[in-house]
Amino acid sequence: MTELYDEVGGPDGVRTAVALLYRRVVADDELGPWFRDVDLDRLRSHQRAFLSAAFGGPQVFSGRGLADAHAGLEITDAAFDRIVQTLLTSLADLGVGHGAVARVGERLERVRGEIVTA
Ligand code: HEM
Repeated sequence: MTELYDEVGGPDGVRTAVALLYRRVVADDELGPWFRDVDLDRLRSHQRAFLSAAFGGPQVFSGRGLADAHAGLEITDAAFDRIVQTLLTSLADLGVGHGAVARVGERLERVRGEIVTA
């Protein structure tokens, strides 16, 4: 478990962050369409994977690599930026410190090349 994972509140903190992020992503005009046909369980599992990548917590990836999982989805840089920004704002709203929020952003930046194909 990383220090970042602890800083966000461990499993409970991550659960809270997932719920908040989930609500914001589906309600978002730009991000919503990507997730429209994805059922709730998969969506929650997506959010957990996303946060796990963000915090270096336990790997919950189902086996498909990130590039495989997103191939064909035509995800744009703008969408990637937006989901990362939505997460960072949510963490700040949950009281996560500035430094930790910035480190989450840096960590996610490293997987951009595997996700963005458009
Ligand atoms: C750091 C960023 C991201 C991580 C770590 C991540 C993680 C994942 C993982 C692990 C899966 C596979 C889920 C499974 O096989 O059960 C997945 C699928 C998917 N991702 Fe992402 N994702 C990221 C960014 C994005 C972005 C920016 C979008 C769109 C704006 C997106 C949209 C999707 C969609 C639509 C699926 C397919 C859902 C499904 O049917 O299972 N992801 N993602």
